[in-house]
Amino acid sequence: MDGLLLLQKLYDTSIPLVIFDPQYRGLFDQLKYGNEGKKLKGRFQLPQMPDTVIASFLKEIDRILTPSGHVMMWVDKFMLINSIQSLVAGTSLKVVDFITWNKGRIGLGYRTRKKSEYLVIIQKPPVRIKGIWNVHNIPDVWDEKIINKNHAHSKPIELQKRLIEAVTKMGETVVDPTSGGYSTLTAANEVGRNFLGCDLLG
Ligand SMILES: C[S@@+](CC[C@H](N)C(=O)[O-])C[C@H]1O[C@@H](n2cnc3c(N)ncnc32)[C@H](O)[C@@H]1O
Repeated sequence: MDGLLLLQKLYDTSIPLVIFDPQYRGLFDQLKYGNEGKKLKGRFQLPQMPDTVIASFLKEIDRILTPSGHVMMWVDKFMLINSIQSLVAGTSLKVVDFITWNKGRIGLGYRTRKKSEYLVIIQKPPVRIKGIWNVHNIPDVWDEKIINKNHAHSKPIELQKRLIEAVTKMGETVVDPTSGGYSTLTAANEVGRNFLGCDLLG
């Protein structure tokens, strides 16, 4: 299912946390590798999301989030540096923090080789911490190796569990409109939260 359709079906101000991992084209445009070879073939076969599409997802997310709710968005380094502010420009959302995920294995890159990804923490106003963010020992650099990778872009389950616990209560619902291998479903269920998510590819 298209994640935008899923978001459009949800009520205004009903969801405390969206974890959003868009299939961002930017990194590959930046790297401009001529022949990515077998290693990246799987990634190129996934539906790509231009900035305009990511911005429309964020507009819907803004609408469904509860006041002081969060969207946590996975980005690569180019998106972190170049695009975040313009992507949230048409919304009420405020960037409040980010986490560097050290994947523990080295990837590609012309200058430096890619070993990390970033999770940008974005909050809907009113921006508040007290009574909203309830776990206070999460470091802003997180080491976690993916062991059972079931998707080209699997994300760390332990980190996602900690973050879900930080900003939601037992029985509340976490939404992921581009679920990929459904690491967010696993994370949400393991900490007793409900989950709503989908992926264009199933
Ligand atoms: C970066 S991956 C998500 C990986 C996921 N967080 C995980 O841990 O497995 C992004 C996913 O977005 C999906 N996608 C792209 N456009 C979409 C859309 N409009 N609606 C739903 N899913 C979409 C792709 O098929 C891809 O599986």
